[in-house]
Amino acid sequence: MRFWKAEMDEEAKLTGEIRALKEEREAIILAHNYQVGPVQDIADLVGDSLELSRAAASMGGKVIVFCGVDFMAETAAILSPEKKVLLPAADACCPMAEMVTAGEVRAIRERNPDAAVVAYVNTTAEVKAESDICCTSANAVEVVNSLEEDRVIFLPDRNLALYVARFSGKEILPWEGYCIVHDRFTPADVRAARARHPGAKVIVHPECRPGVIDLADGVASTSGIIRSACTGEGKEFIIGTEVGILHRLRKECPSKRCYPLSEKAICVNMKKTDLSKVYRALDRMEPRVTVPDEIARRARKAIDRMLAVR
Ligand code: 13P
Ligand code: SF4
Repeated sequence: MRFWKAEMDEEAKLTGEIRALKEEREAIILAHNYQVGPVQDIADLVGDSLELSRAAASMGGKVIVFCGVDFMAETAAILSPEKKVLLPAADACCPMAEMVTAGEVRAIRERNPDAAVVAYVNTTAEVKAESDICCTSANAVEVVNSLEEDRVIFLPDRNLALYVARFSGKEILPWEGYCIVHDRFTPADVRAARARHPGAKVIVHPECRPGVIDLADGVASTSGIIRSACTGEGKEFIIGTEVGILHRLRKECPSKRCYPLSEKAICVNMKKTDLSKVYRALDRMEPRVTVPDEIARRARKAIDRMLAVR
């Protein structure tokens, strides 16, 4: 009990220090929906990749502290070249973003000259720079349907590609990447969760396998899942994404009961950021994320084109 109280005091102290330093530095703190609770609580905005990209492009301040993973901070740096972008946990990466390289994009494009290349934002800046347009889980279907081309190379997430293919008359050529967290959910997990919570609605992220998506009542981005649970009919929901999302769900719709599809759905990279790293980043103004100008210029075209769609 005493130990627990000391931890709470430490958290309150750090929170106060971060707030003061944030003012001094004219910084904003952006946090993804998977971040740990105390980091979400100190952020100016908590959201999905699309909301955070828009915020990076439009919010004021001189510094962005990005509590998420590397591709998100890179996107912020591309959209806000005049701001310093800090990634408090320098080693927070997204393994899926490493599953395709710029050279591989050039090669697949050469083999399919008539196809458009759509890059999920979970890619490196170099891959974005080789792509025609980006998308997130919140706008992937609209982005693909906005294209003139009938053939679309969709990378790197094959599950999201197959999900988009359900809503598009186009020929989708999926890359073989996947999320190491979402790809682990199985149809058996959904059936077992429904047996534990009969009557609960199942909402999953589109990075899940097609067999899981087939059994779900809804499919949405992380913020879309929060909106569906908070405003949708029903009192109980089984949530098929990373467990960090439950923090916002508990805060924003306490009257609904939300259960994780699996307690084991943890993105270790999203959990590398804590309050002490946020403080240290603001104090030392590092680790800083930058993107070389020439890559940033080309990657920005693909991101801006996405933001113009939705
Ligand atoms: P969202 O854009 O839906 O927040 O998803 C990001 C992500 O990394 C999911 O694993
Ligand atoms: Fe990448 Fe999956 Fe983690 Fe999202 S949950 S950041 S896709 S590894």
